[in-house]
Amino acid sequence: MKREEWTQRYREGRTGWDIGKSPLELEAFIATLPPAQCVLIPGCGRAHEVIAFRGAGHSVIAVDYAEGAVEAARRNLGDHAECVHLADFFDETALPAAAFDICYERTFLCAIPVDRRLDYVRRIEALLRPGGRLAGLFLYGAPEPDGPPFPLLEHEREALLGARFSLIESRSTGSDFKPLPEAHEFWEVWQMPGPS
Ligand SMILES: C[S@@+](CC[C@H](N)C(=O)[O-])C[C@H]1O[C@@H](n2cnc3c(N)ncnc32)[C@H](O)[C@@H]1O
Repeated sequence: MKREEWTQRYREGRTGWDIGKSPLELEAFIATLPPAQCVLIPGCGRAHEVIAFRGAGHSVIAVDYAEGAVEAARRNLGDHAECVHLADFFDETALPAAAFDICYERTFLCAIPVDRRLDYVRRIEALLRPGGRLAGLFLYGAPEPDGPPFPLLEHEREALLGARFSLIESRSTGSDFKPLPEAHEFWEVWQMPGPS
């Protein structure tokens, strides 16, 4: 889907992936974090999670490349609106390298074209500091040619994520979010090599 189509979706309220709040799994994860983490939320949409991270004292940069998403996020976030930036996650000049303790994922990896997945992993690797973590909800399921969403195949994750990060946690969620009949969300935490 093109940037303009995402914008159109937000302006028309056709955002079925948006659960309107921070997922419970994320709230539990935030409760375990050391203080003052630096967090990146790529493809943030309305960015509900900014409130949860900021409420716990962390600094957050949330990016989305669709103007409609950024407008909606800023309206949604009130006092935290300054955390949201209009930027293409794949633009190497848009974000500081090796600067983030946490990259948070939800319905962004499954929204980008399948042939950009390796670029996604490389960008995350470049943006996390050593020992940093990619944490969030990952959509697994059968191949979906007509996505987004494009779920990940379970065996793909080793080649894609396992080649660069260690899997610290993976569990199925009880989420009602079911964008495709055969797809299911997993809460996962992947860690970069290096001191944590
Ligand atoms: C399915 S939505 C998910 C939004 C949010 N993560 C959520 O869970 O509600 C995917 C988002 O990724 C954004 N997006 C897609 N490609 C992007 C890119 N290259 N850079 C930044 N944002 C992008 C879209 O504009 C859209 O807001």
